[in-house]
This record gives sequence, C-alpha cells and structure tokens, in this order.
Amino acid sequence: MPNDAVSKEQLDSLQKNAKQAADLILETVENREFIHVVSHLDADGLAGAGIIGKALTRLGAFFRIRIERWLDEKIANSIATDKPALIIFADLGSGNLDVLNSQLVDNHLIILDHHQTTEEANPGFVHVNPHLHGIDGSRDLSGAGVVYLVAKALNKTNLDLAQIAVVGALGDMQDKYESRALGGVNKIIVKDAETAGNLQTETDLMFFGRETRPIHKALAYTTVPFIPDISGQEDRSVAFLASIRISPKKGDKWRVLRDLSEEEKKRLCSALADHFASKGLSGNVALNLVGRVYTLSHEEPWTPLRDAREFSVLLNSTGRMGRTGVGVSICMGDRGAALEEAGKVLGEYRRTITKYLGWLTEKPERIEELNNIYVAHGEGIIDDKMIGTISSLLSTNIPKLEKPLVAYSAIQGEELAKFSARTTDPLVKKGLNLGEILKIAAEKYSGRGGGHNIAAGAQVPIKNVDAFIKLVDTLVKKQLEGKPIEG
Ligand code: C5P
Ligand code: C5P
Ligand code: ZN
Repeated sequence: MPNDAVSKEQLDSLQKNAKQAADLILETVENREFIHVVSHLDADGLAGAGIIGKALTRLGAFFRIRIERWLDEKIANSIATDKPALIIFADLGSGNLDVLNSQLVDNHLIILDHHQTTEEANPGFVHVNPHLHGIDGSRDLSGAGVVYLVAKALNKTNLDLAQIAVVGALGDMQDKYESRALGGVNKIIVKDAETAGNLQTETDLMFFGRETRPIHKALAYTTVPFIPDISGQEDRSVAFLASIRISPKKGDKWRVLRDLSEEEKKRLCSALADHFASKGLSGNVALNLVGRVYTLSHEEPWTPLRDAREFSVLLNSTGRMGRTGVGVSICMGDRGAALEEAGKVLGEYRRTITKYLGWLTEKPERIEELNNIYVAHGEGIIDDKMIGTISSLLSTNIPKLEKPLVAYSAIQGEELAKFSARTTDPLVKKGLNLGEILKIAAEKYSGRGGGHNIAAGAQVPIKNVDAFIKLVDTLVKKQLEGKPIEG
C-alpha cells in the first residue's frame, strides 16, 4: 500500500505552480483574447476538459475545446495555425515536450498534466505537473485534478467542480490506497468535494449502482475487476445470484445492493471468490470488490452519474465511441438530452467491449504469451480508440497476470498501429516502468510512446510492429533484472 503523505512543502509548491497558470489565464481573459484548450480522449481528459470549460465559461472567456487521442507534430501545427493567444493542454503535453518546445515555442502555453516527463519545458511555458514537485502523478493526482487545482486558484466558486476531478482520478484508476481509496493530492480534492456538499464516501461492496440499480444489473455492470462470465452478461448474473439463493426481488420490487443483509453480502463475496478461483484467478481478486465508494450526492439516483466510478466509465465511453462533445458537456453540467444521449453511447460501448473480448478469446493465438509479456493482437479488427479500454480490461482478466500486457490494433486510415500496455502494482514495485519502455521502443522504431509506469501507450508504424513488440519484450526483462534500458 502506498504511503499517503504528500508533504506540505510539496503541496505548496504545486499550488504555487497552479497559481502561475491561473494568472496567465486571467490575463488572457482580461485582454479578451482567444484560448485554445486541447485535452485527452479518456475519462480523465474529458473530466479535465469539463472543469476548464466550466471555469472559463464562468470567467466569460473566449475559448474552444478540442479532444485528441494523442499529441504529435501534426496536431501541434494545426493548433498553431489557429493562432490562439493562449493554448492550454490538459492531461497531455508533459510526455511530448520535444514537440511543444520545437513547434509551439512562440506561443503562450500552459500544460496541465500528470504524465511522466523526460525533458524541461521551454522556460516561457507554464508547466504544472505533480512529478515536478516530487508527487507521483500515476497515483496521487490525475490530469483533471491538476486542472481542478488551477480552477480553484482562479476562483473559489470552482470548488463545486471538485467531484469532477474525483471522477477523472477514478477513471485513471488512481484508487490505489487501502480499500481502493484515493490518496495523496486526490484526497484533498475529495475533501473539497465533500465540503462543497457534492460528494459522500463510504466503504462497501463496489458494484456499479449499489444504491440505484437491481442487484443483478449492478453485478453485471461491474468491470473492475472484470468478472468472467458475469461482467456484461445480465442473464448469467441473474443465474449466479439464484445459485447462491439471493433473491433479486422483495415482493414485486427489485432489490438493490443496499437492501442485502450483512449475511447475504458475505455469502455473495465468498461465492465471487470461488467464482474467480474457478476461472483460474486468485480469489483475492474478489477483495477488490470491497472498498471506498464515491457517491455524487446531487446526481439523480438511477443515473450513471451517481457513482463516481460509473460516471468515469460513462465518460470513457463517450471518448472511445467518438462522442467526446457529450462527455465534456456533461462534465460542464448539462443533463437532459446530453445525459440521455450518453446513456445510449454507454450501452453501445458495453456491447462493443463484449464483442471485442469475445473476438480476442475466440482463438488462442489472438492473445499470445511471449517470454516476458502478453500480446493481444487486435489486427485492425479492434477500433484503435478502444485499445486502451480493452487492454485495461484484459489486464484484470488474465489469470495471475505475472507479465505485462500489450494490446494493439491498426489505426484506421493511417500506416500506424496503436499500442496500449498495462501492468500490475507488484511489477511496478519491482522496477517496471512501461512509460519508459514504450517511449524508448517506439522512438527506436520511428513511433511515439510514453505514459505512466503502470499504464502506457504508443503509436508505431505498422511495418515495425513485430520488431517493436520484440524490443518491448526484451526491455521488460532487462528492466525487471535491474539493468539500464537506455541506449
Ligand atoms: O492519459 P491518462 O493518464 O489519463 O490515462 C491513463 C490510462 O491508463 C487510463 O485510461 C486508465 O484507465 C489506464 N490505467 C489502467 N490501469 C492502471 C492505471 C491506469 O488501465 N492501473
Ligand atoms: O492510450 P492508452 O490508454 O494506452 O494510454 C495509456 C497512458 O499512456 C495514457 O496516460 C496516455 O496518455 C499515455 N500515452 C502517452 N504517449 C503515447 C501514448 C499514450 O503518454 N504515445
Ligand atoms: Zn490522466
């Protein structure tokens, strides 16, 4: 379990850093100049986009928001042609300082990110990143969290956006403290959200929709950890509950998780542990189902916004299914039609995941075990925007994942493949850093890569895919043996 402490000095210097960004934003708004925001496609990126969008709206700023899968020369150039007075990057940028330093050197630029970084930013840029203050950005603060700190420095009214940063952190799976709680700077943001009256936390079984949804649905909608044969399959979930004599209804009313007795909850937990074991997974995986629950108290029950983890999945679905506008507007406070639309996108996303996981497991060669890694071959069948999600899900689903997992697929219309790599905390503790490995291997084969120690990605020319995979396999071994991997 990580140590929770972020020192006062670290926090002060991070907040001072955030204040610099806030000051530059205020100056730009006062001059009535145009701001261009670029944020990342996943739940954390969309949450960050929503927070900055709302904060800028409150200031009466002129701005636009663009959501990108990644940042490269092409994207940097197209932003520059727009000639904005200020560019804000959220949940991306720190891993691409080479591009920004060379292509956007003449621009006013703010980077609000939590990715690992290997270079110094151009001194004219404002670079806010927990890593610069000795705070672990893969665990203790998300991209949306960095954006929130800036919003808070802009105006205290923005404390009412703290719960969106909590959603972002959970989307990035930063719940790494005891009982799957958020820690570090995230914990301070949780407190802000509680103080503002927008968030409640407690420890319980963490099925999706624990106070709002029939128990069999809540179980079927839970995907972290992925429950083989139950996640995504309501009929199986009903049968599973029946097999352990948990009645789905009381009278003619569906029961929710909250309605179960302590004895029933215990029975459910131990049946799930047996179920995991029967699928070759450690029964301990079931322990991951009990933990800190974050409830957005002002959201309507029965909506996927009530539970912060479920909210993050909804955001992720809008990003991965190409409907980023819907996700961002929900984070900015839209409900009604936007929420209805998001519900449809979420359904489609769930069906797509089930389809892709089914396809991957249909033939054994589609998930290949090499010496030091697993490789899931998406073969262009899996949409490149979904590769990250599939990789995250597979990595919680392979029996006793003792090797990191790398999934990839061809990017439609480009000569590139998209890679997503995931590993586990024990391997990170042993020194594995996928962000470093993917960066080095991608650069060697004319691609780009980077990210966090535990989760990283890369884009690599299709023709170099095999060589790239081979190199990643070798670098994983080297790094776990404690040898240097550079050069
Ligand atoms: O770009 P960003 O930092 O927001 O993305 C991190 C990604 O890594 C997220 O999609 C998150 O779900 C994934 N992740 C993961 N397993 C972890 C930590 C992060 O799949 N343990
Ligand atoms: O795309 P995916 O979800 O696999 O990305 C995992 C993490 O790696 C994310 O935090 C993403 O921003 C980061 N990444 C990166 N550089 C890339 C690709 C992904 O920093 N070229
Ligand atoms: Zn992030």
